[in-house]
Amino acid sequence: MNRRNFLVTLTLASTTLLVDRRLAFAAAQDLEYLQALERAQRDRPGKLSANGRIAPTTEPGAPFVIHGRVFRADGVAPAPDVIVFAYHTDAAGHYDVPSAPPHSWLLRGWVKTDANGRFEFTTIRPGPYPNRKTAAHVHFSIEAPGAPRQHSGLTFEGDPLLTAAEREESTRAGRFGTMRPVENRDGGQHVTLDIRLRR
Ligand SMILES: [Fe+2]
Repeated sequence: MNRRNFLVTLTLASTTLLVDRRLAFAAAQDLEYLQALERAQRDRPGKLSANGRIAPTTEPGAPFVIHGRVFRADGVAPAPDVIVFAYHTDAAGHYDVPSAPPHSWLLRGWVKTDANGRFEFTTIRPGPYPNRKTAAHVHFSIEAPGAPRQHSGLTFEGDPLLTAAEREESTRAGRFGTMRPVENRDGGQHVTLDIRLRR
């Protein structure tokens, strides 16, 4: 690859990363993050179903269920057989013990969407980072058959740490917005989330 092509490729890659970064709440920060993401996938169970756990049953925190559905880029057709990797902080806002290396995620899980694109994660409600500069959130890394990995996220409507820009961006995305209302029922908190695959 000559220098010009290399620079074009680098620019395109950087643009992709910038888009991902915005969609994933600054998740795809750097190569270290992407490498950690790939490394984590080595622990992926061999057999996945549409229902999975992120936090184990022993994890302290408010019971929380994510009812998700993945759609193709047209926003209409459900996307089956999509592997969704999710991770989030514990109730105190930590991803792992303080001595763990960056991008270590203790609370993480995988599901594979069913024929209707649906999935469900049972977990605990994550807390904001201890510095309280970022709204509480869940990260999703999504692998649709034959497509490159995509990133998405979830935040919680009414979270005072959400910025006006984050709220506006979610509102603009309509039903595919990443800021979702939390419903209290059946002794737990529930969120419904629709995710649209990018072309
Ligand atoms: Fe995060």
